[in-house]
Amino acid sequence: VDITVHVDQPAAEISPHLYGLFFEDINFSADGGLYAELVQNRSFEYYPVPGGNPLSQRYHPLYAWERVTHGDAACELQVEKGIPLNRNNTSYLAVRVRRGGEGAGVQNLGFDGIRLDKGDEYRVSLYSRWEDGRGAPLQVELVDADGKSLASTELEAGGRDWRKSEAVITAKANCDDARLAVTTTGRGKLCLDMISLLPVKTFKGRENGLRVDLAQSLADLNPKFFRFPGGCIAHGQGLENVYRWKDSVGDVAERRANWNRWGYHQTYGLGYFEYFQLCEDIGATPLPVLPVGVSCGFTPPYQCVPIEEIGPWVQDAVDLIEFANGPVDSKWGKLRAEMGHPEPFGMEFICLGNEEHDTPEFAERFPYFVEAVRKAYPDIKIIGTSGLGPGIPLYRQMQRQDVYSSDEHYYESPDWFVQHQDRFDDFDRNAPKIFVGEYASRGNRLQNAVAEAAYLTGIERNADIVDMACYAPLFADVNHTQWNAANLIHFDKRNLVKTPNYYVQQLFAKNKGDQFLTTDIEQKINQQDLPEYAGAVGVGSWSTAVAVRNARLNGEPLDPSDWTAHGGDFGVQDGEYRQTDEQAQGVISIAPAEAGAEATYELEARKLSGAEGVLLVFGC
Ligand code: AHR
Repeated sequence: VDITVHVDQPAAEISPHLYGLFFEDINFSADGGLYAELVQNRSFEYYPVPGGNPLSQRYHPLYAWERVTHGDAACELQVEKGIPLNRNNTSYLAVRVRRGGEGAGVQNLGFDGIRLDKGDEYRVSLYSRWEDGRGAPLQVELVDADGKSLASTELEAGGRDWRKSEAVITAKANCDDARLAVTTTGRGKLCLDMISLLPVKTFKGRENGLRVDLAQSLADLNPKFFRFPGGCIAHGQGLENVYRWKDSVGDVAERRANWNRWGYHQTYGLGYFEYFQLCEDIGATPLPVLPVGVSCGFTPPYQCVPIEEIGPWVQDAVDLIEFANGPVDSKWGKLRAEMGHPEPFGMEFICLGNEEHDTPEFAERFPYFVEAVRKAYPDIKIIGTSGLGPGIPLYRQMQRQDVYSSDEHYYESPDWFVQHQDRFDDFDRNAPKIFVGEYASRGNRLQNAVAEAAYLTGIERNADIVDMACYAPLFADVNHTQWNAANLIHFDKRNLVKTPNYYVQQLFAKNKGDQFLTTDIEQKINQQDLPEYAGAVGVGSWSTAVAVRNARLNGEPLDPSDWTAHGGDFGVQDGEYRQTDEQAQGVISIAPAEAGAEATYELEARKLSGAEGVLLVFGC
C-alpha cells in the first residue's frame, strides 16, 4: 500500500473538542462507582424499583443494613417518616433500644462490602436525635466480616432535634468486606439518617469527592468535553423519574434521591455541581443533557409534560446556565458560590433531549427550549438530538432550527463500523454539525477496538462536519452490569481494567491533529498474492520474546521447521520458535493448510527489559 500525505493540502480543520466522554449512571457507575461514598442506602430512601426486572424488586428501606447487638443488648429497626430530616429526605431509621447492653444499633454492608485501605483516613458523618428515653453517645466502628475492629470513634448524638456529627477515622488494615456499625448503650428511640463514610483521599481532594483511580482513568483519556448525566436516565422512564438537575445540587442531605431506570437507586450525591467540578478538574468542557418534558421514548408508554405546563421545564434549562455561569448575586449563581465555586464554570453547550427520534411530542416541545435558551443566552451553543442521524424527520428539524449540532447514537457490530467509515462523506456541509454522542461496536475485543479506530479515521476525515465524538457506556461494575454489549472501563471496588477500546480512545485523543491533510492511498496487493494459513500468530512488539509450543495441525504435531516467519528476527531454539532479539518484531505463521483445517498452539510472550508491553495480534 502506498500512502501519500499532502502536507500542503489541509482538507478539514479538526475541532479542539473532537474527543470527549459520555458519563451515565448505568452499571453502578455513580453510586458504588465513581462517587466515592462507601455506605449504600445512606438515607434509607431505597424501595423496590418500578419496572419488571426482578432484581430491581429487591430494594427496600433497610437494604444494605443489618441490626447489631453486643452482649445482652436488644433493639428493633424500623424506617419511619414522622419527623424527617428535611422535605427531600423523608425516611430515616428508628432504632428502638430495649436494652443497650454493650451496644445496640445497625451496620451498613456498603456496596458488596466496604473497601478500606490501611492507614487511609475516612470521614464518617451522620444525623441523629433521641426521640425519647435516655440518650447516650454513639459508637461508630469499622469492622471486618468477623467483627474485628478496624477503626472506631465516638460521636455526640442529637437531643430532641436532628444534629449532624462527624469525625475522621483511620483504617488499621486493608479490607474489602468491611461494615460500618453505629451503636449505642443508651435506651429509647434513637433516630439516624444520612450515615456516610467517604475516603478523605478523593480525586483532587474534593470533600464530597470521586474515587481516585476511576476519575484518573477519565483524566488519562485527555477528554475535551464531558457529556452527562446520561442518556436514558436524563429523560427518565416516566416523568417522575426524569433527572431534574435542581434535585442534585445543594447540601447532599437535602438532595431528592430518585430511582434509576437501569434498575437501582441514585442518591444524586454525584450531582450537577460535582459534574461541573469534575469537568474543570479534567480539563473538559461540560455538556449537560437536559430533558425536554418527554420521558424515555425508548420504553413505551412514554409520558410527556402537557404543552401548557412546559414552562417550569424550560425554566430549568435556562436556570442551569445561570447556575453554571451566572454572577454570584444571581439566584442560581449564588448557590454555586455557596457550594464552593464562586467563579463561573464556563458552560458553552447545552444538549436538549436524548434519542427521542420517534416521539412527535419531542418535536413539538423542543422549539420552546431552543427559543428560551437563545433569548436568555444567545452565546450558548445548542446541541439537539437526531437519534440515528439523517434521513429521519428529527434531523431535518434540527436543520430547520439551526442548532449548533445534532447528537446521533449507534451500537453496532464491528463490521458496521468498518463498512460505514464513509458515513459522513456526503453530509450537507451547511447543516448543523454532528455530535456522535454515543457509539460502540458491540464488544471489548481487539477486533472491536480496531473497528472503532477505523471509524474514527472516517470521523477525522470529516472533521469539518463531525465536531465531537464519545464512546458509550463509560464504566461498568463487573458485578453489576446492565449493559452487556460493551463498556469502556470495567471495575470492581478495588480494581479497574481498561479495555482495548479505551486505548483506542486514548490513542486518538492524545494524538489529535489540528488539520486533516489530504491523503491518497493506493492498494497494490492482489488477494491471490496473500498466502493462506490454518492459523497465524502475529507479534508486533519491541523487545519481546515469543515462544510457540505444541503446535498441531488437525491434531498432528507440527515441527517448528514447518512454521514460517515474516519480517522479523526469528530463530528456533530448544524446539521452540522464538524471536528473542531486543528489537524483534514480525509475524509467525503456522504451516499453510487447506480451508477448514484446525490449528492449535500455545503461545507465551514475555517482555524483555525496556519494553513497555507486548502486543499480540491473532488472525487467520
Ligand atoms: O449508553 C446506554 C444507553 O444507550 C443510553 O442511556 C441511551 O442514550 C442509549 O440508548
